[in-house]
Amino acid sequence: MHIHKYEKIWLIFGVGSLILFLVILAIGAFYKGVHPPSHMDTIDPKNVQENESFKEENLGLRQVGENEYIVNVLSSGFYYDLGKDEDGKAVNTIRIPVGAKVLFQTTSTDVVHGFHIAGTNVNMMVEPGHISTLETIMQKPGTYTLLCNEYCGSGHHYMAATVEVYEP
Ligand code: CUA
Repeated sequence: MHIHKYEKIWLIFGVGSLILFLVILAIGAFYKGVHPPSHMDTIDPKNVQENESFKEENLGLRQVGENEYIVNVLSSGFYYDLGKDEDGKAVNTIRIPVGAKVLFQTTSTDVVHGFHIAGTNVNMMVEPGHISTLETIMQKPGTYTLLCNEYCGSGHHYMAATVEVYEP
C-alpha cells in the first residue's frame, strides 16, 4: 500500500503526540503522584454519620479559632444540609465575617453534585464516597449564593443556599 509522504508525516505526528501525552500523564500520576485536588478522603455514602464531620450535630457553620471556621455540608438531592437552628428549622443561610479562614467540607449521599459559591473561588465537585474539602478566605463582604453546578436530577435548579459575608 502506498502512503503519501505528507500523510505519513501527519500520521507519525499524530501518533507521536498521543504517545508523548500519555507518557507525560503517566509520569505525573505514577511518579509525581499528581491527583485532582481534595477528594482524597473516602466515606461510606450510605452511612455518612459515621464520619465525625458529618454527624447531624456537626453540620453547618462552626467556629474553630479566633477567625477560623469550618462549614460541614451534606449535599443531596436537592438541598444542602447546613444543620438546624435552635428552633429545629433547617439552616439555609450561613454568616461568615469578612477575612475569616473557612474550611468547607462536603460529601454527597446520592449522586454527583456541585458546590459553587458564585463570585468566589469556592467551586468543588461533590462525589458520593468522597469528601471534598476546600480552604479559603472570604475576601469581600456581600451576599453570595451557594449553588449546585452539576446536573443532578429534576430538582437540580432548587439546590441552593445563601452565604453572607459581613463586616464584623
Ligand atoms: Cu445537585 Cu445539581
